[in-house]
Amino acid sequence: MVVTPWEVSGAIDYEKLIQQFGTQPLTQELLERIKKHTGKLHIQLRRRLFFSHRDLDWILDQYEAGQRFVLYTGRGPSGPVHIGHLVPWIFTKHLQDKFNAKLYFQMTDDEKFLIHPEFTLEKTAGFTYENTLDLIAVGLDPEKTKVISDVKDIKLLYEIAIKAAKHVTFSTVKAVFGFEDSSNIGIIFFPAIQAAPCFIESALTGENVPCLIPAAIDQDPYWRVTRDVAPKIGYYKPAQIHCKFLPGLGKGGKMSASMPETCIFTVDTPEQAEKKIWNAFTGGKPTVKEQKKTGGTPSVCTIYQYFYYLFEEDDKEMVEIDKRCKTGDIICGDCKELLAERVKRFLKEHQRKREKAKDTIDKFFIK
Ligand code: TRP
Repeated sequence: MVVTPWEVSGAIDYEKLIQQFGTQPLTQELLERIKKHTGKLHIQLRRRLFFSHRDLDWILDQYEAGQRFVLYTGRGPSGPVHIGHLVPWIFTKHLQDKFNAKLYFQMTDDEKFLIHPEFTLEKTAGFTYENTLDLIAVGLDPEKTKVISDVKDIKLLYEIAIKAAKHVTFSTVKAVFGFEDSSNIGIIFFPAIQAAPCFIESALTGENVPCLIPAAIDQDPYWRVTRDVAPKIGYYKPAQIHCKFLPGLGKGGKMSASMPETCIFTVDTPEQAEKKIWNAFTGGKPTVKEQKKTGGTPSVCTIYQYFYYLFEEDDKEMVEIDKRCKTGDIICGDCKELLAERVKRFLKEHQRKREKAKDTIDKFFIK
């Protein structure tokens, strides 16, 4: 398995990642503690889509002692948004609501420009705008959310970034990110830019404000470097809560825009989404007859995972689906039909909010 900020491939063993990256598992005890503040646990916690963390217990200590914290997450605007991208954003909105937290959201239009040889700045600026519509559609609070474009808002980031950069050597980023002598110098400096939003609230207010980052586990290398630097420049280490990758609709692998056939984009038409779902990889048998007799295998089925992680909140229903699949009572066509209905309903609603976001987008960008 390979898990870096720019590549995720192979069969991902999340337990092993916790060990390799040196993070902490999200324990039942910690979940109980979160529950005290949020009420019923969010589906992404109940189903362990978020599975690992750093210093989340410390963030809760601080919060319980009356100290507010800020949220920080982001997006590399390199293409259209798919529903896998929405996963941590939906969870971030939940945290924003429950903890009344301000959110800094970074659009790394510089990073994507630097790593894709053919990208222009106009292109990443266009995706920044389009992707921000998706972000707003998730329902974030315009009063408490700031979207940062690295290119446009560099003034806000630069002081913090160079303070951080001064404490990070080339050999460190080479080891952590795999940079080489042939890497361009823009991307070598970039980790300092991704570190900066962790400390914006503190820098702007002069008060040391803890920061919690909800993000997929592939971003962890950035936080390892940032956490080393933080105390050296007078700030708290940022805490993290890490999620898994939403699988694509094909056999194995995460949902990835580079494989559009296995990927549900937020701007897909109902027909496009439906077609992709009908072509999805499932745990079915070669023939209906065989499947009715011996049942299917939910544990390898992408459709099942979509119900589990996003589209079936009811825990009892989930058990039913599992049971009825294994006994051959329902077959793949039944599940595909039901999922397609739900996905189409979701997309319709998301697209409506996305259109509406055009009226409020200016509120989210930094003036
Ligand atoms: N580097 C991330 C990407 O390519 C974007 C990003 C910037 C980010 N800051 C973040 C993601 C903070 C999660 C949390 O997608």
